[in-house]
Amino acid sequence: MRIKGIPVPAKILLISLFNKVCYVYDSKDYLYDIEKTYTGAASKDNSGFTCSKAIRELHYDNIKDEYELIGLLRTKEYTKIHIDENCIVGWAKRFYKEKPNAQKADFIGDYSGKIRIVGEIRKPNILSQYILPYKGRTNKQFRYLMDKLNDEINKKNLGAFYTPELYVKKSLELVRLAIKRVPEGNDYIIIDRCAGTGNLESYLTVEELSHVIVSTLEYYEYKVLIETLGDKVRHIIPPTEREDTFHLGMVRGADALSREYINNAIIRKYIENPNCTIIIFENPPYVETTSIEHQRKNKSKKSGVWKNSFAVKEMKKDVRKRNLINTVTNDMGNVFIWSAFKYYLRQPTDSYILFSPAKYWKAQHLVSKRMIKGFAFNRKHFHTNINACIMCILWSNENAVLESFEIEAYNIKNEELVFERKLAISKIHDSYSSIYFDKRKMDGDISDSTLCGLNGLPRSCKQPSFSPIFNENIIGYMAVYSSGFDNPDLHSSLLTAGRYDGHGFYLRKDNYLEKLPMFAASRYIKYNKGWTERGRVMKSADGQSQYNKDIKNGKLEQFLLKCLLFTVLEPQNHMREFLGANGRLYRNNLCIDNTNGKTLALKSLRKLKKNSREEELIKQWNKVFSDAKLTRNYNPQYNYGLFQIIEELNTYRKDIISNQTIYDYPSLNGNIKSLAEMVKNYYLEEIVPFLFKYEFLK
Ligand SMILES: C[S@@+](CC[C@H](N)C(=O)[O-])C[C@H]1O[C@@H](n2cnc3c(N)ncnc32)[C@H](O)[C@@H]1O
Repeated sequence: MRIKGIPVPAKILLISLFNKVCYVYDSKDYLYDIEKTYTGAASKDNSGFTCSKAIRELHYDNIKDEYELIGLLRTKEYTKIHIDENCIVGWAKRFYKEKPNAQKADFIGDYSGKIRIVGEIRKPNILSQYILPYKGRTNKQFRYLMDKLNDEINKKNLGAFYTPELYVKKSLELVRLAIKRVPEGNDYIIIDRCAGTGNLESYLTVEELSHVIVSTLEYYEYKVLIETLGDKVRHIIPPTEREDTFHLGMVRGADALSREYINNAIIRKYIENPNCTIIIFENPPYVETTSIEHQRKNKSKKSGVWKNSFAVKEMKKDVRKRNLINTVTNDMGNVFIWSAFKYYLRQPTDSYILFSPAKYWKAQHLVSKRMIKGFAFNRKHFHTNINACIMCILWSNENAVLESFEIEAYNIKNEELVFERKLAISKIHDSYSSIYFDKRKMDGDISDSTLCGLNGLPRSCKQPSFSPIFNENIIGYMAVYSSGFDNPDLHSSLLTAGRYDGHGFYLRKDNYLEKLPMFAASRYIKYNKGWTERGRVMKSADGQSQYNKDIKNGKLEQFLLKCLLFTVLEPQNHMREFLGANGRLYRNNLCIDNTNGKTLALKSLRKLKKNSREEELIKQWNKVFSDAKLTRNYNPQYNYGLFQIIEELNTYRKDIISNQTIYDYPSLNGNIKSLAEMVKNYYLEEIVPFLFKYEFLK
């Protein structure tokens, strides 16, 4: 409770169901034990714990005691707990929930420095019934959690996700390689413009620290930075706190993307010295304004202020000149990367040790330099929940054309660094939409108002992003967004009619088969949740010439039919049959129910030389379908695909008491589940290798 920011009740009740006795204890008498961190059941690992005699014994089979017990359960009295590093994040969440407009200062403000906003933890108000005042003079105790204590707006704007200790230590190998590159007789400096509370610097030696220049934007991080590193590093920017340093929760003069910072005289002095080598060592903030998460939360006017900064404006000009994709400036990390090469690194022996997802190099081509060495780290350990690949690369400031490289992947298990394998990182060039999307306009295309939502049913749309069409040769609409795998379920779909928000193309009878690998590839992350895949593997059309050649010479017929079989059995294929508002029946041609005549898929699949696994898949589908036909909602007018069966026929209800889902047709539900497992294995073993071979996945 304490760790989650849930108030600890004043009384502990221990119930013996057998004797019908409730033993009552005061939780304040056990505060010392309560404040230890526990995982798992209370009945485990508790040897050595003893408790005193209960302060009351209630025999709850007698009415008087029963009333008293109910009274105890209803009281709102709590034992105040101490704030420590185990529970502060839970209480921060609770505080910001109860006071949504509060800022970080309101929660952790301290008595040190020039700004004396005394925060909730030191002078409890909202949480006064639940927590004791925190006595620490500064916030140093929470230095590794400062990112998690940010208020919502800061979370959005600062992109603060701290580097775990084991990854910091590993990355120092790269820093030391960079130091080795410093020419004889040169001075060198290590700059970290977004140091947070100084994690990356924690394990540098005294001598190395004497070359370091650090800064960070957020005020409370800056204070911890001064406290922990102030007397050890060469410079902190700004060097001391002044009356006007605190500015709306930020540090004046420390915004690395501002003109003022880029022109900072202290740093410029080194940059302009030809006998000084520059090493940048950074984990830049992750803020991507186009990400779904960001947009969902993007209600505040203050959000995204960094987009107006000097560095972004300058970068935009350069992006146009260099013909890079313009979305590259949507990501704050990219602005750090671009500005590092633009304003700081100048000699071939200068280096950049950079933590970042691979996209900046792989898809956005922001860096064209020599790669010396690198590691892959699991993003999950950077205070997020996402299993994904973060690269830590040592770049040399020498121009180089590079198509791919290898890095060593390290995960963290049981608090130890574990080498998993070497990973290839390859650049991607062409997108599906530019190469493979079918953009033909054809005779017989007529304007048609039907658009579908992601649930496969018609959806009205006041301002559709494109004008939907109908043609006898159209069998569906495929949408595949972007090269990455953010929100894969949202960003790929197959529907019977146009998707309301576009991002796709119409599948036509004459070439639909050769388009299906795009849909198959867009399911990759769903079936490969390993941390090394997300952020590293992306969708590309780079294999186009080989693919088109092999399509022409008929080499791929069987592979395309396998993709078709996968597509008809994959639940993310949201094609449904329905009667449109215009009275037209929208047929699902990518299913294998032939109740109302053979579908296109069935006709094509006749040519598949089925192996035993494919025979089994069809058998399993038949089981699903025969169960589906027995359901109440079954309508023989439709040809059913798997998704339509799941949505319309596999009905269920929630049990009020257990809150469990009770399926009306357990056999149907069981058969659907088994099919899903079989489809997954089929996909991984028989489809994925081809997708890599033809670089649909790269
Ligand atoms: C990903 S964290 C890295 C922190 C630390 N170096 C580490 O690796 O644990 C990025 C840091 O950049 C800071 N930051 C965000 N925007 C900034 C800006 N415009 N200028 C300077 N620092 C910034 C955040 O407050 C956050 O501490």
